[in-house]
Amino acid sequence: MKDSKYILVTGGAGYIGSHTVVELYENGFTPVIVDDFRNSHYSVIEGLEKITKTDIIYRKIDVCNFNAFENIFIEFSFVGIIHFAAYKAVGESVLEPIKYYRNNLDGLLNCLELAQIYKVHDIVFSSSCTVYGEPKGVNVVTENTSVQPANSPYGNTKQIGEEIINDVINSGAELKILKLRYFNPIGAHDTGLIGELPIGKPNNLLPYVTQTAIGTLEKLIVFGNDYPTHDGTCVRDYVHVCDVANAHVKGLEWLMKQNSNMTDTVNIGTGKGTSVLEIIHIFEKVSEQLLNWEFGNRREGDVPEIYADVTKAEQLLDWKANRNVKDAIFDAWNWELKRRNE
Ligand code: NAD
Ligand code: WQD
Repeated sequence: MKDSKYILVTGGAGYIGSHTVVELYENGFTPVIVDDFRNSHYSVIEGLEKITKTDIIYRKIDVCNFNAFENIFIEFSFVGIIHFAAYKAVGESVLEPIKYYRNNLDGLLNCLELAQIYKVHDIVFSSSCTVYGEPKGVNVVTENTSVQPANSPYGNTKQIGEEIINDVINSGAELKILKLRYFNPIGAHDTGLIGELPIGKPNNLLPYVTQTAIGTLEKLIVFGNDYPTHDGTCVRDYVHVCDVANAHVKGLEWLMKQNSNMTDTVNIGTGKGTSVLEIIHIFEKVSEQLLNWEFGNRREGDVPEIYADVTKAEQLLDWKANRNVKDAIFDAWNWELKRRNE
């Protein structure tokens, strides 16, 4: 379609990417997914087609393969890029650091180089709250809170990714790049047609909770009950994935109004902290069943308490989370139930 506003969405079949594809459609853009499905299923495309009632454009391409990736820039004239494609499992990155550095950095470098060659100026990059590490003396972090040494190779790929972007902009590149630091995205689309579908055993809390409740996993272990928090368990900023998705649309629209050669960084969270025990209690209420869980040891590298200051997101992007943790848990459970019944 000649007048389509094509947006390249790398990793668009993944968890956050797929929800962003829906938001893009709903806001008049035409997303083009590039994903090699190494951590996602083809069924995501079917779910997206049901929700959007459109044929989803997708290409199975490894973004680390420059020549293959270039083909998509030849095929489409993009007005923007959202770069999600990366590995994200903290523990795995400690065991297989080269795999993480190669995928997360090569993919980004190819993306930036091709964006320059094909003059696609507006780019949103998936960064993470992991860049804050264990913030010194504060639980709530602003974008100016100093970045701490990364406590995993994964975290380091996000820090280096941000530095690469800053260097590229400092070199005078005609790009505009927004780095979104997501906190803890949870939940699913309210249709229950797409959601978090990790391959293998989940690493994150919410899929662990729902898969335990459904019987796929036996028991949830709560990592530590002696943290200096109000109930002894860790506190995080859980944000609904559809709100995170919407932040990308707001981000792109904002970028399109900026002058060239700039980059900025924005936290994406709710600004509220929730403990692991609170998550369990909300889940039990929402699902009307008891969860099989017990306390275990602390998990190495866990920060006791961290949540976002979201003032900048509101002021700069006119974005704020519209859903709360209960909504997100309700949607995550609905998604899990729907999957079981398929
Ligand atoms: P995900 O694994 O569900 O999605 C990533 C997608 O990228 C997958 O579909 C995978 O197949 C694809 N992919 C990976 N490497 C690829 C490659 N070389 N070529 C083509 N496709 C490739 O992860 P997600 O949770 O949707 O995360 C998306 C982004 O957000 C990642 O960059 C992640 O680091 C970042 N992030 C995620 C979280 C979170 O908690 N989910 C928090 C902060 C930041
Ligand atoms: C949340 C809380 C655990 C599992 C990770 C990445 C971070 C970002 C978001 C990508 C913690 C506790 C968990 C379990 C538990 N991702 N927990 N039992 O660690 O805050 O952040 O995802 O960038 O970089 O590190 O999220 O979902 O793993 O854990 O008690 O079986 O749940 O200790 O307090 P985390 P999580």
